[in-house]
Amino acid sequence: MNLNNFESKSAQEILQWTISTYGKKAGLASSFGMEDMILIDLLSKLEGEVTIFTLDTGRLHEETYEVMERARSKYGITITAYFPDKTGIEILQKSKGFFSFRESIENRKECCTIRKIDPLNRALSRLDAWITGLRRDQGLTRVDVKKVAEDENHNTMIKINPLADWSLAMVEEYIKTNDVPVNALHKKNYPSIGCAPCTRSVDKGEDIRSGRWWWENAEHKECGLHPKN
Ligand code: ADX
Ligand code: SF4
Repeated sequence: MNLNNFESKSAQEILQWTISTYGKKAGLASSFGMEDMILIDLLSKLEGEVTIFTLDTGRLHEETYEVMERARSKYGITITAYFPDKTGIEILQKSKGFFSFRESIENRKECCTIRKIDPLNRALSRLDAWITGLRRDQGLTRVDVKKVAEDENHNTMIKINPLADWSLAMVEEYIKTNDVPVNALHKKNYPSIGCAPCTRSVDKGEDIRSGRWWWENAEHKECGLHPKN
């Protein structure tokens, strides 16, 4: 299978191929941001199912839980939430407090590892392929994202990014035309939403991911879910 052939395929074609090749052994990693909501909407219009999972870091916004619940009832989906290891969190908070991630990049990565990366690895260990809402124009670290690729960070399992070539304008247009529920924070100038203490709104003209870990340089702005190879 030449994975480059997927570059000319539409998001719908890629998702249909994913369903027929992997079924529930493919998992959509969803933070319920705009892109992930589009993927859920597209999947709901196709025959068959994949797994849908989320990484509940314990530090998400209330608005994120609200949109998860709206997605659950509108699409009738089952969402598997993966939580951080409780001992890891208890030790971290006892030794470094509740905002250690503000103190250094090392501390920030430590928190992301416990709250996101370890739970992601647990989720992926049950799957053969994973689907994400990554887009190339989301920033410096994502310009090379392929629609379908072997994920070198996860034992070369297949990683599927059906919206890789979508622009923000296409995302917004799809949401409007298809009446897709979205996180209420998007309307308050939060184009990219992660954990509450590490996300802020952005000003007009600012980069769409500039509200994530805004105290760090652009080249560090990955929590480890999608390290650049
Ligand atoms: S992040 O790495 O900086 O947090 P971003 O918020 O841009 O990622 O989201 C990119 C993709 O990563 C999403 O479309 C989704 O597939 C996946 N993702 C991000 N956060 C989560 C989460 N909490 N749970 C599940 N998947 C997530
Ligand atoms: Fe911790 Fe912030 Fe990373 Fe969330 S985004 S896991 S709160 S450092």
